[in-house]
Amino acid sequence: MKRSETRELVKKAYGKIAQAKNGCGCGTCGPDAREFARSIGYSETELNAIPDEANLALSCGNPTALAGLKKGETVLDLGSGAGFDCFLAADKVGRNGKIIGVDMTPQMIEKARENAKKNKIKNVEFRLGEIESLPVADNSVDAVISNCVINLSPDKQKVFQEIYRVLKPGGRVAISDIALNKKLPEKVQKSMDAYVGCISGALLVDEYKKSVESSGLKDVKITSKGTSICIDPETKDPIGRAILDSLEDGQDLDEYAVSIYIEARK
Ligand SMILES: C[S@@+](CC[C@H](N)C(=O)[O-])C[C@H]1O[C@@H](n2cnc3c(N)ncnc32)[C@H](O)[C@@H]1O
Repeated sequence: MKRSETRELVKKAYGKIAQAKNGCGCGTCGPDAREFARSIGYSETELNAIPDEANLALSCGNPTALAGLKKGETVLDLGSGAGFDCFLAADKVGRNGKIIGVDMTPQMIEKARENAKKNKIKNVEFRLGEIESLPVADNSVDAVISNCVINLSPDKQKVFQEIYRVLKPGGRVAISDIALNKKLPEKVQKSMDAYVGCISGALLVDEYKKSVESSGLKDVKITSKGTSICIDPETKDPIGRAILDSLEDGQDLDEYAVSIYIEARK
């Protein structure tokens, strides 16, 4: 499949999630989305500081907890969704700081802008665009964050080059993403549902590190934090079905996919 086709399929899937009445990932909404967020590293205080509507349970970690954000900083969130981490980062950098969220799905951008307006959050700007070609100036941001997005890119090398370009010298990277411990069964590799579900586009952990390093970013540190991929064997959503049906008896997804944190600096 061509890269542009992959991107279109991903865009369509996340457009639907953004538009669903209580659109959330992992079959999880409302109070369950808060519970899910707590399970992947968000504190109650952090969750109280951001609008619940921005939490679509599409994340796999808490990159803002790693980024060491300071008052007055400019932060870029790649694949900002409904604005979850942007609003949290906005709280951390204060009114003199600025957050830019970039997402290629128009419905996500619309939802994120509505959330900002409704909650009177003024230091966040959402830009429609691709993370492989960021609508952001060179050397202009202090920190790049991203949450469960880069695995969805069909050109990850370009994403890391773009991160390098937009960071100020000394700028930091704090990313949460999915990676693989070993190659997935062929059926999962080919499943577009598993791609959209953040599994089959994921890189092997070693490949991930090499890919970040080859962009020029320094002090690359990858921390594996176990799996936080929520597949409900009862509900058997399309992503779960594609994955679970292809695992052999006695195997489970944790052997393959893992949530990781990536830290680096320019
Ligand atoms: C799994 S969701 C995560 C959303 C958000 N980071 C969160 O934690 O709630 C992935 C998001 O990345 C966006 N996305 C995926 N691939 C992208 C790309 N190549 N360029 C820009 N945005 C992309 C999707 O539109 C979607 O909003």
